[in-house]
Amino acid sequence: MKKVITYGTFDLFHNGHYNMLARAKEYGDYLIVGVTGDTYDIGRGKLSVKDSLATRIENVKNTGLVDEIIVEEYLGQKISDINRFDVDTFVIGDDWKGKFDHIAQYCELVYLERTKGISSTQLREENFEKYNIGIITDRIDDNQLVKEAPLVSGFQVTGVFAEDRQVAGEFYKKYELENLYGSTASMFDDVKIVYIRTELDKRYAYIKQALDAGKHVICDVPFTLKADKQRELTELAASKNLILINNIKLVYIQVFTQLLWMCHAGLIGDIIRIECSVSKQDRHIPYLFNELMAMSICPIIKILGTDYDDMKCKTIKEGDTVEFGSITLRYGECDAIINVGNTVRVNNKIEIIGSKGTIRMGDNWWRANYFELHKTDGSQKQIYNVNFEGNGFKFLIRDMLNMLQNDRITTKILSNNEAVKMIEVLEEFYNDHEQ
Ligand code: CTP
Repeated sequence: MKKVITYGTFDLFHNGHYNMLARAKEYGDYLIVGVTGDTYDIGRGKLSVKDSLATRIENVKNTGLVDEIIVEEYLGQKISDINRFDVDTFVIGDDWKGKFDHIAQYCELVYLERTKGISSTQLREENFEKYNIGIITDRIDDNQLVKEAPLVSGFQVTGVFAEDRQVAGEFYKKYELENLYGSTASMFDDVKIVYIRTELDKRYAYIKQALDAGKHVICDVPFTLKADKQRELTELAASKNLILINNIKLVYIQVFTQLLWMCHAGLIGDIIRIECSVSKQDRHIPYLFNELMAMSICPIIKILGTDYDDMKCKTIKEGDTVEFGSITLRYGECDAIINVGNTVRVNNKIEIIGSKGTIRMGDNWWRANYFELHKTDGSQKQIYNVNFEGNGFKFLIRDMLNMLQNDRITTKILSNNEAVKMIEVLEEFYNDHEQ
């Protein structure tokens, strides 16, 4: 019996897929099809897939051409599949020409001509809603949104507005955008979503303007240093049925969700101490300190909740500038410590110490793709990782797509209550050290 194998995502099953399977089948007696798993697709940046894995498998099965279906879960699996199933021929579309030549050492390799004029990408573009994003900024750096947004189907950054026309012009050129808006009003006429990436003191007013114009908003954190203003913006968004997202990518990243699960399911026992530290990398952006503070308070609130018993702060100041800030939140027997350094350097890390184990995230924990688990039972250190390119913005955008499709304006990933609590802590920190 001659065995043939082929692979694909088979999203929005179309004629091109059918033709490929039919022609692959002609190369042997037994056809195996590898359908890509969700984690594998996410890892390689394919976040636009519309159909669930179950639907995609069902569609492949319904062709009646296939003898066996497997799920492709990791890079390099093809070689072990060829070996395991004793495959004679590997067939793939010629859009991959040259990319699979190394497979010829294991079995016969065939590139087949693609069916012209159809693809899943094209169907997604034709049949699903478009979500244009406009950026309001005061610097020439997009936080990777321009590149990451299109990874989620329907999303794209279409233009920029900046008060400083030179900044706007440079941004527009650098990211090759369609539009250079002369006013926020002209941007609001054109887009559904606004990303606000300005200095802290401008964020509140721009969020209000965008919400008043009926736009969904993503804004860097903190929106403001006043909890009542944060609440006011949240309520304004709710009253207009609009989404207002805090740009904290950590909470959308898969390894952080895994870490949270471990902490909440008791896998490291009772948590007795958490330390979350970060040093400012770019010392020239003054408001970055507040962003790092907010970003570091967030994991503590996600892990231990919003009900701490008390709070203590320490600072090192140089004139009016805080060079180091530390907050200790006490939750019963557990201390959660946040350290943020400006000129004072601290090691970037999150360390969670429990009675049965310790979890560590190292450098760049805010866009981490791994963490370590050390159990007290003497077992080996475990590393949990999920690879991805970029800074994780696409996962936040994907959550936004979920909200838009399900007609929801809030996310379970970071609730309004958690976001307000973050600002309450920050406000108390500033009240404390200003005295
Ligand atoms: N295929 C084909 N002709 C097409 C589209 C796909 O022969 N018009 C083949 C691919 O070359 C591959 C298999 O079908 O061998 C599965 O392709 P997949 O990547 O799932 O489909 P695409 O339509 O190419 O998806 P996308 O646009 O997301 O890349």
